[in-house]
Amino acid sequence: MALIELERRDDGVAVVTLTNGKVNALSQAVLAELRTIAESLTAEPPGAVVVTGGERIFAAGADISEFGGPEEAGPITAAFHDALDAVAAIPRFVIAAVSGYALGGGCELALACDYRIAGDRAVFGQPEILLGIIPGGGGTQRLARLVGPSRAKELCLTGRQVRAEEALRIGLADEVVAGDELHARALTLAAEVARGALVAQALTKQVIDAGLSTSLAGGLALERDAFVEVFHSDDSRIGVASFLEHGPGRAEFTGR
Ligand code: COA
Repeated sequence: MALIELERRDDGVAVVTLTNGKVNALSQAVLAELRTIAESLTAEPPGAVVVTGGERIFAAGADISEFGGPEEAGPITAAFHDALDAVAAIPRFVIAAVSGYALGGGCELALACDYRIAGDRAVFGQPEILLGIIPGGGGTQRLARLVGPSRAKELCLTGRQVRAEEALRIGLADEVVAGDELHARALTLAAEVARGALVAQALTKQVIDAGLSTSLAGGLALERDAFVEVFHSDDSRIGVASFLEHGPGRAEFTGR
């Protein structure tokens, strides 16, 4: 059986589902497959992406049975960074739908997505410290950017797990919905985004992400260039003409 399923739906949404046994451990084999899938979604982008896992366990993190000493650690963190950077680089809105435990690398996978919808039984955490180690899949960096350095340090230094409502309050989750509505909500949002102006979406995502790693002046320079570039798209012509003729929100975009 594949470790990850990829479904490309007719509504333009691609659904990536982790299917690696009952705890969805992110082994090196899973990470290699995730990287390949993410790169295929970048090469031939759908309209939007939903990343999800098991109902009770989204993903339990790195496969601890693959740990050893420093020699094994290097390839493990490299595999995480390669796979999760590939997810983050998909030029479309990537939504994590988290139904249960998203721990360690599972939380880091959710952090590499653009938006996190949590089921009401979701639990997030970076419990690596309880193994005497640190997050190696981007957690120290992406969590701090999302929830701020002091909260990220508290979570990573204690290994405390956060339930859905607290995750929402601190900005780790963006929405909480009833568990049985999670997939419908994620698919509805993804389908709505998939009908949008995809060139402009990709540029927006790129500029926000790149801007977060640079100065305000550097980020504004990126925005200036992207604002000019977006006017080369068909959708910019369609959107502006539609507004002038029919008013706001009526444009039917082509994705080009
Ligand atoms: N890597 C490898 N195996 C793991 C694993 C992981 N990240 N997480 C769980 N497992 C294994 C357990 O060792 C156990 O194996 P066994 O059936 O051979 O005894 C099996 O999966 C089920 O785990 P268990 O803890 O009994 O299930 P649970 O339903 O009570 O709890 C979790 C599920 C995910 C909450 C719990 O397993 C957990 O906290 N896992 C570790 C998370 C973690 O520390 N991740 C960071 C890794 S750096």
